[in-house]
Amino acid sequence: MMHAMENSQFLSSCSADTIKLAAQSLMHGNLVAFPTETVYGLGADALNSVGVSRIYSVKGRPQDHPLIVHLHDFNAINDWVKEIPRYAIDLARDYWPGPMTLILNRSKIVGDFITGGQDTVGIRIPDHPIALALLNSFQEIGGKGIAAPSANRFGHVSPTSAEAVSEEIAEFLTTSDLILNGGECRVGLESTIVDCTGGIPAILRPGAISEEMIEESVKMKFGEKFRSSNNRASGMLEKHYSPKSKVFLDQTPVAGQGYLALSIEETPLGVVRLAAPINIEEFARVLYQALRRADELNLQSTVVQQPMGEGLAVAIRDRLAKAANGR
Ligand code: TXA
Ligand code: MG
Repeated sequence: MMHAMENSQFLSSCSADTIKLAAQSLMHGNLVAFPTETVYGLGADALNSVGVSRIYSVKGRPQDHPLIVHLHDFNAINDWVKEIPRYAIDLARDYWPGPMTLILNRSKIVGDFITGGQDTVGIRIPDHPIALALLNSFQEIGGKGIAAPSANRFGHVSPTSAEAVSEEIAEFLTTSDLILNGGECRVGLESTIVDCTGGIPAILRPGAISEEMIEESVKMKFGEKFRSSNNRASGMLEKHYSPKSKVFLDQTPVAGQGYLALSIEETPLGVVRLAAPINIEEFARVLYQALRRADELNLQSTVVQQPMGEGLAVAIRDRLAKAANGR
């Protein structure tokens, strides 16, 4: 656990007592940042409008951007949604807990302060021992769900470590808020968002649960129809996932520039190699941390060689396109 104001004090693990304390703190309307397998989330009691409004002020995020509600298990979903299509049940069964968010029609208990006034709600069961322990603890004391966006300032790169959370938002937290330290996130990219309000699923944001995995689970092939044009996901905005260092894609880096590419690519003389991942999974895991490092080193610009292929590579290219913002 880390208290918001003590930037340097990290504990390597979260004890059961710490988790209980964090759950109680949420219940009192405070914020708890916690690790998930994708990125760190900034959590508040999803039924508490005051707690949730603090998420928006700490992030500096516009009020009409909806939040994902995190649950500890599938049965809890009935509190939050009205109806669940058959294919969404298949997806939930196959990939929860995991890096996937389902958009469903909301129930009556879901406040406008969660959905930005929309009649749908995003739900996710994360696959991380600390996140699940926190969700369980919260449920034991009467909590119904934890609303949590990525724990970064609006428009910035998502944090994949407790240190990165602290750099992003510690100055905006109070001494009652907490940051739970669970080390580095295993996936490193935000969850796949699947709109489940239509006749077939539509991917609003690609992630580790790939198009192929979704087709396999629901036993349908979608091709182009898959990519929804109705995207309310804020990650779809330009200039999202942006470091200060200007990102350029698929160029030859020159001296003084940052460089991120698979390990098979060599580093030209004078270029600052930010990471050399050996495969796509590692590329996803280190991407945000590499972009953060570029900023720490005050690099004016960073070149990224985009990974080819399907699956997770699609999600990596999606985030890179946004980080590069048309360059
Ligand atoms: O992996 C993740 O999804 C992480 C971890 C913490 O769970 N969370 C995350 O939350 O990335 P956030 O708020 O940074 O991004 C969630 C995206 C936003 O772009 C939001 O607009 C979209 O999900 N979203 C949430 N509810 C939605 C809804 N009802 N309809 C459409 N999009 C929705
Ligand atoms: Mg985010």
